[in-house]
Amino acid sequence: MAQIGTDKEIAKAFLEVGNVVGIPTETVYGLAGNALNPDAILTIFRVKNRPSFDPLIVHTDSLARLDQFVTDIPDLAQQLAETFWPGPLTLLLPKRDLIPDLVTAGLSTVAVRIPNHPLTLDLLRSLNFPLAAPSANPFGYISPTTAQHVADQLGDQIPYILDGGPAGIGIESTIIGFENNIATVFRLGGIALEKIEQVIGPVSVRTHSTSNPKAPGMLSSHYAPRKPLILLPAGASPQPGERVGALVFREPFGGLRPENQRILSPTGDLNEAAKNLFAYLRALDTLPIDVIYAEPLSNEGLGWAMNDRLRRASVQ
Ligand code: TXA
Ligand code: MG
Repeated sequence: MAQIGTDKEIAKAFLEVGNVVGIPTETVYGLAGNALNPDAILTIFRVKNRPSFDPLIVHTDSLARLDQFVTDIPDLAQQLAETFWPGPLTLLLPKRDLIPDLVTAGLSTVAVRIPNHPLTLDLLRSLNFPLAAPSANPFGYISPTTAQHVADQLGDQIPYILDGGPAGIGIESTIIGFENNIATVFRLGGIALEKIEQVIGPVSVRTHSTSNPKAPGMLSSHYAPRKPLILLPAGASPQPGERVGALVFREPFGGLRPENQRILSPTGDLNEAAKNLFAYLRALDTLPIDVIYAEPLSNEGLGWAMNDRLRRASVQ
């Protein structure tokens, strides 16, 4: 069983010999391994049960080091990096040969980000290689936002989980690619679209669900709890029932037991809601209920990214 601890040196020692460990980030916990070591990459795919066509994000600690992994940083990417890094933003950039094809699933671009978590930044600074890290959940399940979530699902397959407390943002990074000097959002995430557009102007959004390995972003089956999740239309209420659960924004629904509901943010704060989203979905998944209803959020701020995840997690 994985040890959970706060000792960066232990994580470092495991990573240096090619093992994979759980690491905290501000978005969700990652399952990290040496991005330059194909054996470590294979271990990540195996532990997550992830299809090899789904590429990984490479994490580093500075723009200076990024130059070793990518051949070009377009101006728009540079502006975003300077504004939002370290932070919940992932950029797709042309890769150098040093990055193994296994990491990018054969694509010519590599997804890179500088995460904003003191413990993980410290760890990255102390290593002489970057860390490939997908979210530390079994493929298709809800992403982990605490060290205990990682232990619950992957604990018997990894030696160590670095505990940096609950993730502050709570949803994965926003992914942006660049073609012909046009920025495209491939995954809505921890930085709201409005904030991106304030820096680089209008961007296109291409996050349609797909199982096409060449099309980056997310598969439609992502983020799902084991219980069926039904995303309600705006303004609708669930069928009342003893064994009915609900994920709500500000106020519980009448007709359902209070203990079968989780309130994302009683004050109506979308950032607080994002921080609670995955933990509350996990909690609902363990209750004696047969179905989870989710209330849709407004599409402002992090609301759009949360609705996107709820839609992908829902039975459609
Ligand atoms: O917040 C995050 O991004 C977290 C933390 C741990 O950093 N990581 C994360 O990784 O969410 P993962 O593997 O769960 O999601 C990475 C996404 C996948 O949907 C993958 O398809 C996409 O990034 N991706 C990776 N490399 C890509 C590439 N070269 N082109 C297009 N999409 C890529
Ligand atoms: Mg993931």
